[in-house]
Amino acid sequence: MRQHGSWQGDGIYFGADYNPEQWPEQVWADDVALMRRAGVNLVSVGIFSWALLEPSPGRYEFGWLDRALDVLHAGGIRVDLATATASPPPWLAHRHPETLPRTVDGTVLWPGGRQGYCPSSPIFRQHSLALVETVADRYAEHPAVVMWHVSNELGCHNVHCYCDVSAEAFRDWLRERYGDLDRLNDAWGTTFWSQRYHDWAEINPPRAAPTFANPTQQLDFLRFSSDAQRAQLRAEREVLKRRVGQPVTTNFMIGMGIKHMDYHSWAADVDLVANDHYLTVTDPNAHLGLAFAADHTRGVAGGDPWLLMEHSTSAVNWQPRNVAKTPGQLRRNSLTHVARGADGVLFFQWRASRAGAEKFHSALVPHAGPDTKVFDEVCRLGADLTALAEVRGSRVDADVAILFDWEAWWGVELDSHPSVDVTYADRMRALYDALWRAGVTADVVHPSTDLSGYRLVLVPTLYLVRDADAEALGRYVAGGGTALVTYFSGIVDEHDHIRLGGYPGAFRDLLGVRTEEFFPLLAGERVALDDGSTADVWTEWLHPAGAEVVASYEDGPLPGVPALTRHRVGDGTAWYLATRLDEAATDALVGRLLTEAGVRPPAAAPPGVEVVRRRADDRSWLFVVNHTDAEATLDVTGTDLLTGQPCGGTLRVPAGEVAVVRDEPAVSGAVPAGEPSPAAAA
Ligand code: GAL
Ligand code: ZN
Repeated sequence: MRQHGSWQGDGIYFGADYNPEQWPEQVWADDVALMRRAGVNLVSVGIFSWALLEPSPGRYEFGWLDRALDVLHAGGIRVDLATATASPPPWLAHRHPETLPRTVDGTVLWPGGRQGYCPSSPIFRQHSLALVETVADRYAEHPAVVMWHVSNELGCHNVHCYCDVSAEAFRDWLRERYGDLDRLNDAWGTTFWSQRYHDWAEINPPRAAPTFANPTQQLDFLRFSSDAQRAQLRAEREVLKRRVGQPVTTNFMIGMGIKHMDYHSWAADVDLVANDHYLTVTDPNAHLGLAFAADHTRGVAGGDPWLLMEHSTSAVNWQPRNVAKTPGQLRRNSLTHVARGADGVLFFQWRASRAGAEKFHSALVPHAGPDTKVFDEVCRLGADLTALAEVRGSRVDADVAILFDWEAWWGVELDSHPSVDVTYADRMRALYDALWRAGVTADVVHPSTDLSGYRLVLVPTLYLVRDADAEALGRYVAGGGTALVTYFSGIVDEHDHIRLGGYPGAFRDLLGVRTEEFFPLLAGERVALDDGSTADVWTEWLHPAGAEVVASYEDGPLPGVPALTRHRVGDGTAWYLATRLDEAATDALVGRLLTEAGVRPPAAAPPGVEVVRRRADDRSWLFVVNHTDAEATLDVTGTDLLTGQPCGGTLRVPAGEVAVVRDEPAVSGAVPAGEPSPAAAA
């Protein structure tokens, strides 16, 4: 298990990936001087250095890394040292072409990019672990090293390999899971389409086929592939743990963009959870996506503080149009991560590269040098994070949980379903965004999480659910909780087998409804509800079976049929939403649920102003992020750590700015709201 709280420094970590090998050594001294100017205190080193550290098998060259670590240490900069296994050197594939990954149609992925290896390759495993051993032995005692960084974004490019080596590993994984072929045949439903297996050797990954591949075979291959990546993390961790004392992590990619690593199952394999997050610049609500990713990372971390291992100071290089961040956006982005539980803010990368595929990616030091908007903002952020040192180790207040399960995501987006418009991100983000607009923070957590501390639990599109998790939600409601389940939830078990007797299978009794048939809508088709709202994508022929009807369709394929229901269960209430409400109606529904469940935002704020509270035993901090272009005024008392100014009842946050107010117990003679405090006037 994780060793909670053992990884933090004495404040908030601030830094970047640092790739000194891309620069002549004369530049390193400048780098360290600029790092000190900016307040940088942690850099990740060596992530893509394998080809330099081991120029040929078993021959190591550490001189440059020795010198780089010493220069950093002399400058007081701490190091998160990579195991350097992220991308194998060209000699590996040259000598062992069987280590190259293959796509679903058999295409070989050649070296020349990065991460070009089959995740199940024993040859890759052996060479990578030899490197980890050597690096760990050499630097275990280095005084600069405070943390170890396994590989890099495991599974980013090579998560699904369909080669023969992977096929054999998949068979081993299946033997482990099912024991015998009869159980596998049952689980996969192979009586359908003449798929029955009589010998393990007949089984393959779901390679390109004439038509839809068996869905459970697909689901198990997704599970296997996540486990194969995780196995590399675990193997490297094991080697490290025998040699080093510092905490071990790797950078996850939690967000709605990367789907194939079940990080919930990986969390126990790291001493601290670290995440990479990049904005989707085409999304006008990109800052809500950022908040979601941060709340989900905290959920994976079990509520503990976590580390933002990478984000960008400005544009990236890998989107079709790489838009630069506007002034102030870098600061809002970074401090939102801190508000939502990050105890460190790092970037890719320290100095923008001169060459290579990412030379147009922003950095802390741009091509134009330190005399730039970006470096000024970096320095300002460094000062902010220094001022926030006391926040380290505190936790985030949240009364609402949203249930998230990677397996449900994989399951719901398999092919041959009622409608391609039902995606996992869709209602997940719709409900999350409605909470965000209401100023309410949510923990995004796995369905197996203990829910008893939450006032409200939202369950978007939980298509695949285990019996135990469905039962736990039932107990939560019966014990006095409020839950909302949305359509196409509870449909199948972990084998992707339908739960018979009417939808939404696992939640039918809890919700007090029974659906006999789905009536998905055509693209662009809309229906009206009798409460004045509209909906699209999905309707279903639902019969109340104990639930009260809150709203019904007025038109569409099912006029008069209930679309929204409410069921009293024990001391609690279970709501079911059987259609895709528009945004205004989603906001209204979430608002009603918050009121019924007694959930309030940490402070009243104007629209577009984000408020989140972090809390320690004896005090708390209100983070206020103003995403609007107008000054925001909030009724708040305390001291803004970023300006050092007390606010006696009224906090003014200029357009685009951020405040972090340390809450102080009210003292007698406090200045009434709206008037300047004596200190502020002085
Ligand atoms: C991440 C990766 C970094 C860099 C960055 C660019 O996926 O870990 O090495 O490529 O993206 O945005
Ligand atoms: Zn493979």
